Formats: sequence, C-alpha cells, structure tokens
Amino acid sequence: MELKICLIGKGNVGTCFLQLLKEKRHMIKEIYNCECILVAIFEHDGAIINKDGIDLNELLAKSANFRKNLFWKKDVKAKGLISELGINLCIETTPTNPNTGEPALTHIIEALSNNIDVISSNKAPFFLYYKRIKDLAEKMNCFIRYEATVASCVPALSIKRNLIGNKIIRIKAILNGTNNYILSRMATEGISFAVALKEAQELGYAEADPSLDVGGFDTAGKLVILANELLGWSKSIEDVKIEGITKITPQALELAKIDGYIIKHLAIAEENNLIVEPRLVKRDSPLNISGALNLIKLQTKHAGSIIFMGKGAGGLEAASAILNDLINIVIERNKIRHN
Ligand code: HSE
Repeated sequence: MELKICLIGKGNVGTCFLQLLKEKRHMIKEIYNCECILVAIFEHDGAIINKDGIDLNELLAKSANFRKNLFWKKDVKAKGLISELGINLCIETTPTNPNTGEPALTHIIEALSNNIDVISSNKAPFFLYYKRIKDLAEKMNCFIRYEATVASCVPALSIKRNLIGNKIIRIKAILNGTNNYILSRMATEGISFAVALKEAQELGYAEADPSLDVGGFDTAGKLVILANELLGWSKSIEDVKIEGITKITPQALELAKIDGYIIKHLAIAEENNLIVEPRLVKRDSPLNISGALNLIKLQTKHAGSIIFMGKGAGGLEAASAILNDLINIVIERNKIRHN
C-alpha cells in the first residue's frame, strides 16, 4: 500500500511530525507494508510539491533553507489544490483560528469531499463544527483523526476504543498546560499572575494570543471535543459556561491552602452540561497536578474512575499523536483492503 501524504502547516508541530516520519517510515513499511510518500508541504506563503515524493533527509538536513528547495513554489495555497495532488492522506497542522476554524476547516472539508483521509492537530474546526465534519467523513467513508487536539499525546480520545464495553458518565479534566502552570507557580512559589504567565509564554506553552488560555477558551474547545467524542454529544463551544483564571489572586490561593485546598482550572462534562471554571480541589486529590501537565478523569458506569495524565503541549508530543493516528489509519485501510 502507498500512503501519499500532504502536510499543511510546517510550524513546530508540522516540523516535528516530519522528523518522526523520517524516523518511523521504514518501520511502517516493514510492519504494516505501507510506503509513506510525502507529496506536498504547504506553508502560508507557498509550498513544496513533488508528486514523486519529497526527499525528507535532504529537506530536514536543510530545514533553514525550506524556501530554497528545488520544488518550492511561492504563493501556492492548499485550498483548491488538495484534490489535484493524488494524495490519500491530508495532515492539517496550521495555527488555530478560534473564531472561524479557517483555513483548516476548508482544508478538512476539501480533503474529505475528495475521499481523502484527514488527520488534524488543529482544534477549532472540531469545537466549532464537530458534527458537520464527522457527518461528512462518514458519508465519504473516510477516516478523520484528531487525537492531538486534546491533551496532545495523551490518548484522551482513542481511550474510547478501549472502553467500548463500559460507559463513560462524567469527565473532569485539566486541559490547559499554561493555566495549570500559572496556578501551580502562584500557589507554590507565590509569584504573581503576570510573571507566571510570562514564564509560560517563554516555555512555549501559551497560545500566540494567551488570552485564549487564561480566559478559558482553549480549555472549553478541548472539552467540547472530548465530551462529543467520549460521551457521544454534539456540542459546540457556545454551549460551554466559561470562566478563566484571571480573577484568581495570590490571596485566594493562600486562603485555600490554609484549609487544605488548592485552586485548579477544571473542565467538567456532566448531566448534559459543559463547564470550565476554577474550583477548589483537596490538596491530596489526584487532580492536584503541577506544572504544564494535563489530566483527564473519566467516571465510568462499570469500573469507577479512570485517570490519565501527561504532557498536554509541545511539538514532539503533538507530532507523536499525529503519527499514532497515521498508523491507525494504515491499520484500518489494510483491514479494508484484505476484506
Ligand atoms: N496553550 C495550550 C496549553 C497548548 O497551554 O495547553 C496546547 O493545546
């Protein structure tokens, strides 16, 4: 089998994915009998397109000279071209536009409409138009995977396949590394909100517009995707009651501490409601994680609660989730071919 791939967005996540693909493609060929051929890489100002396959070794060795590549074409856009490339997998890693989901939404719709499987690390299309995208993928018999959109490499969405004999009733989660980092630093080191936010930005956790983190919008988007996926809902971001962390003072954290509590920014899905807000959590609760970690606690019908935790941000972490999605699609396509 040949997997002809186009990557849209060569930022941190996209570049890390290319590195992983270079490392793992021989394994994918050997174990899954699938040749991964990278046909196109789109950036905002042009693209490298080579239908015979882009030389990944050369490309990554000369990463700084991306736009000097022999196959670079300036001002070429993915929109309108996706169906012309002869690809069967489109990987979307452009920056998220939380208001419109564009240009990722258009790329995803165009790929699916042309029978091309999709993997996305871009969350906005999914918290804005989850049902529309899922319905289209189903209609076209295409795979659409987006594990990296929630808690990055933590298998927050694919866990559903492992709980198929159970029922998830409620979700309680910490889904934004920036906010958890800020609250942890304020509580343990007593530093100010502004300084902690600056640190989170310097460490690369925060969104380009950090008000999306501290205002709770990023968490709300992830919660929508998580709840739709795991609880079978069809919500959008407008259905979430959102309160950020900007009103949390060092005094409030101090008072909480005296009583044996800590303040955490939680994402909760229960009884048809989606809530994002700061809440008091017992200091010895498993929800009391520090730094930029994410945590997801699932209340299940038959097996109590299940908790998993890990790095929720970072280029390589997200890229590893994309590679997982890719291998899973290869496995599914192989099954279909052999039937
Ligand atoms: N700004 C996000 C966070 C990045 O802090 O969790 C990962 O989605």
